[in-house]
Amino acid sequence: MSGVLGDYLNWATQLERALRGVVANATKLDLRSLRGLVFLGMGGSGVVGDILGRHVEDVVTLPTITVKSFSLPRYVDRNWLAVAVSYSGNTLETLGAFQEAVRRGVVVAAVASGGELIEISRKLRVPYVKVDEGYLPRTALPALLAGTSKLLEELLGVRLGIEECVDVLRDRTALDVAEKLAHFLVGGVPIFVVPDRIYPLGLRAKNEFNENAKIVSKVEVLPELGHNDIVGWEGSPREWVRFVVFRDMNDQLLDFAASYIKELGYPVMTVDIGKSSYIQTVLYGSWIVGMASTILAKLRGIDPRETISISRYKEVVRRYFKSLGS
Ligand code: PA5
Repeated sequence: MSGVLGDYLNWATQLERALRGVVANATKLDLRSLRGLVFLGMGGSGVVGDILGRHVEDVVTLPTITVKSFSLPRYVDRNWLAVAVSYSGNTLETLGAFQEAVRRGVVVAAVASGGELIEISRKLRVPYVKVDEGYLPRTALPALLAGTSKLLEELLGVRLGIEECVDVLRDRTALDVAEKLAHFLVGGVPIFVVPDRIYPLGLRAKNEFNENAKIVSKVEVLPELGHNDIVGWEGSPREWVRFVVFRDMNDQLLDFAASYIKELGYPVMTVDIGKSSYIQTVLYGSWIVGMASTILAKLRGIDPRETISISRYKEVVRRYFKSLGS
């Protein structure tokens, strides 16, 4: 199958290919001297930091943050590692934060399919991975995850095991689940409920439905949901809302949320996405929402590729930067 859905269906192959990629200018860092790891990136590239950050924290004792803006927090200094991820390599927020990191003497590395980020990394001789071109940034998630994890494996001397995700992306039932989810969401606004341990999946789901299906969406995170939004849902309009609960394991809080929301009168669909590890679960769930949002776009007669509003926004940012330079 070709097109955007075809790109999602091919994720296992995309991941396998990206795992064979090479890290340029690789150098091993002394883990003991590192204070933290900061990912820089926006949208479909920024979510790589959200997803991998939690995984890295499970493997090494290193705090991780993701910066989705033009500049870095003050505490990021030369004892930090900054990894910029931008599929195009030309996103100005990411480039701005990357250049600031270079000026501060932060240890830097990059992942992109080309653009300025690769050019600068070559010039500075800093570690980088160039992933395959030709995808939409959001459909390139396996390549970006594999490239970034290879980079970190080399620099930190750790094993992140992304290769273990290939098999879950071969699950033949995933497309049926995605179809069901897409049909459930027709005519409504998706509200994704996730436990905090897989929050990056909720974020990814929201972004995928925003960009592919052009629909507003929201993420609810447990346990925080039980302390505020749960009350908000008591008095909100029922007609346009569809709740999707991502269930990764037996969890009484998730089951309570699903049944209570139903009791309040909202349509609820529970999607079982649990696999044997955090990274497998999040990548599998990301695969389901990628396909489902593309199918929903088709059902709504919308082109999943086009993101006119993002282009308009990027043009304004570009003009703003140009005006600062002149
Ligand atoms: O998925 C998308 O198309 C966007 O969210 C982009 O990822 C975002 O605009 C950032 O661009 P890039 O991934 O090229 O850095």
